[in-house]
Amino acid sequence: MSEATGTRRDFLYVATAAAGAVGVGAAVWPLVDQMNPSADVRALASIEVDVSGVEPGTQITVKWLGKPVFIRRRTEEEIEAARATAVSELPDQGAENANREGADASDENRTLDEAGEWLVMMGVCTHLGCVPLGDAGDFGGWFCPCHGSHYDTAGRIRRGPAPKNLPVPVASFVDDGLIRLG
Ligand code: FES
Repeated sequence: MSEATGTRRDFLYVATAAAGAVGVGAAVWPLVDQMNPSADVRALASIEVDVSGVEPGTQITVKWLGKPVFIRRRTEEEIEAARATAVSELPDQGAENANREGADASDENRTLDEAGEWLVMMGVCTHLGCVPLGDAGDFGGWFCPCHGSHYDTAGRIRRGPAPKNLPVPVASFVDDGLIRLG
């Protein structure tokens, strides 16, 4: 087997494992309406997530409304890399943040806190719905192995077929260490 073939097989294996880790049977979700649950559904579907044990440079994946949500506590380096990127360089220049409708995709408009430590995003690739892998890709963020989309440390699409940044759902801090989704 060539080295290239071996690498490809590894990616497919990891993608399957990642889908299993969030407790779902498939790595792909239908795209129709997946990011836009109606207001009444959202109201019924709030959950609170304890993030007090999440260390800088790590993330957890929770299942919410049947889909994976990535909650990452970023390192200083990740924050700096994201903030050093001009919005004009980005394929999708919208924040795609349900908490900041109409804002641009600067890093400050993507995170939950002003310091930029907490990033909360739907873990569903905006191309065809696979679950991207964390700590991967050419921009130090996420990589979707299905067709090769690279997201940066703010979850913004940088290269590949995905058209949009990973969407940030309605989210807020209830208090230190506790995040509400919805
Ligand atoms: Fe992610 Fe196609 S589904 S790149």
